Amino acid sequence: MEGLSYRSIADYTKAKEQASAQPEVFWENIANQFEWYEKWDKVLEYDFHTPKVSWFLGGKLNITENCLDRHLKTQPDKTAIIFEPNDPNDAAQHISYSELHSRVCRAANMLKANGAKKGDRICIYMPMTPELAIAVLACARIGAIHSVVFAGFSATALAARINDAECSILLTADGGFRGAKVTPLKDIADEALTSCPSINNCIVLKRTGQDVSWNNMDLWWHEELEKVNDNCPAEVMDSEDPLFILYTSGSTGKPKGMVHSCGGYMVYTAYSFQNVFQYQKGDVYWCTADIGWITGHSYIVYGPLAVGATTVMFEGVPSYPDYGRFWEVCAKHKVNQFYTAPTAIRALQKHPVELVNKHDLSSLKVLGSVGEPINAEAWHWYDKHVGKHNCPIVDTWWQTETGGILITSLAGVTPQKPTYATLPMPGVQVVLLDNEGNEIEGETEGILAIKHPWPSIARTIWGDHERYKNVYFSAYPGYYFPGDGALRDAEGNFRITGRVDDVVIVSGHNLGTAPIENALNAHESVVESAVVGFPHDVKGNALHAFVIPNAKVESNKLTDELRALVSKTIGPIAKPDRIQVVSGLPKTRSGKIMRRILRKLASGEYDQLGDVSTLLNPEIIEEIKRNS
Ligand code: PRX
Repeated sequence: MEGLSYRSIADYTKAKEQASAQPEVFWENIANQFEWYEKWDKVLEYDFHTPKVSWFLGGKLNITENCLDRHLKTQPDKTAIIFEPNDPNDAAQHISYSELHSRVCRAANMLKANGAKKGDRICIYMPMTPELAIAVLACARIGAIHSVVFAGFSATALAARINDAECSILLTADGGFRGAKVTPLKDIADEALTSCPSINNCIVLKRTGQDVSWNNMDLWWHEELEKVNDNCPAEVMDSEDPLFILYTSGSTGKPKGMVHSCGGYMVYTAYSFQNVFQYQKGDVYWCTADIGWITGHSYIVYGPLAVGATTVMFEGVPSYPDYGRFWEVCAKHKVNQFYTAPTAIRALQKHPVELVNKHDLSSLKVLGSVGEPINAEAWHWYDKHVGKHNCPIVDTWWQTETGGILITSLAGVTPQKPTYATLPMPGVQVVLLDNEGNEIEGETEGILAIKHPWPSIARTIWGDHERYKNVYFSAYPGYYFPGDGALRDAEGNFRITGRVDDVVIVSGHNLGTAPIENALNAHESVVESAVVGFPHDVKGNALHAFVIPNAKVESNKLTDELRALVSKTIGPIAKPDRIQVVSGLPKTRSGKIMRRILRKLASGEYDQLGDVSTLLNPEIIEEIKRNS
């Protein structure tokens, strides 16, 4: 989509100027690059107080028409998806746009034949095979709302997400390959479905071939596909109809089902994909994320396919069969744009550089980073050993809630600065606030906030608009509040300093501490717990849990049980690295846990505890230090 691209700093500057002078004209010009059944009556309506945001009002479209059908006219044989399996000895698959179109339509008919219709919620709990992307697109084709749950989540977490959205169908697989491990997805799904009354059908992809138990509502994917054809006209969707729900951790209580809508999400993901990565015709682009996270939704599936790109889907992990796998895959598929997370870079950096050097990385043009701040050491290693000082690095800041990348450099077009995400995309108005909510100018540090909507902002939290208002629009009225702090340099570049709430980013995954505390507190021997993050050299942050037991317990046994409990309740990614049994937690006189102090204690920054004399129980500090 050439019309979307800024190829020079002059184009970029012009776009920025137009976006701030006439935001609606700016976005309308971008939206005009897509195929709509009917154009909108109005570009934007919003009120950050209510809050309500609508884009391209009255516009009618189907995102799959833009991601698939449109390309059949110009490039039917171009590879849409390159699938690289977990086992390097298995053949990669190249799926053309016409084959993808046919497979999506057939899968869409399979869903329809099993009762799915526009507006229904369909849960997808699948490994990273092409059928996962096909499932997502098949839902979009018929206007069903997909809710992808990362295939590393536990049965309890899966059930909670299915129930929150009242999904009617579950799409899963017998199992999933990830490195040397095989995850028994069907067994986990079976356990979840014992408490999910809304599910009518469970359609199971055969991936690993392992034995599975079979229930009344279970159907084999391949058998269901045989019953239908591949003719499936796209459902006409309103621009503001929900496209998908994706759950993300909150700082309190249950996960938040962020709702993204069809029109704005399509426009923004394609626009940002094109400009950030500077994708050119014929390039091969690879984002190593899982489709279970927003990065996979926006920058493996929708953004790349909307612009007609070739996107790589990788089933495996960076360490299997060895720590050179990423680079082997880059060389094998002649990858041009490579997008990964700092946690992966830090893990790979610990292994001999020979594992990078032995692969031919000369195809690489652009490197990307996402999910957490990239530290200087990782940035320079990435630049030197992977990019050979020859590839711009885009450090992309965004969130599940934002739908697309908001702060970043544009590869080779705007300047980069190590550890800085740099500048907002044209059309995105980022400001820094002080604690009272006043905008602060110039070179300074503050709370990141956004003062005008962009098309892919999440529209609500599924079933809980009040929470959407409270979390994102109440702390600083009139602004969208993402929950991050940032520094700004004299040139206006932003460096994200981290969360300002009780969310910890572990290996690039957003984990609320409250749900982990709830899981710990569910153990019969636990009275109270507090979980905080501490710096970790590979994961960025890791979790430290402070736990008060109700009686004398054997601490090793308890900590093993607690790890298992968190793994079962949420998933292995949420297991604390450290669990410390304590007799009390530092509290204010009103009984509030002083997390700031716990964070310092967990990080070993004993000299930065500040004044602890006002605590209800200052003596607890010494005990925690002694036993840490
Ligand atoms: O704290 C920021 C961090 O990840 C959070 C969003 O997490 P999630 O919704 O899981 O989405 C991750 C993938 C987009 C943000 O609030 N974060 C994300 N990207 C960066 C980042 N922190 C610093 N630099 C980044 N590039």
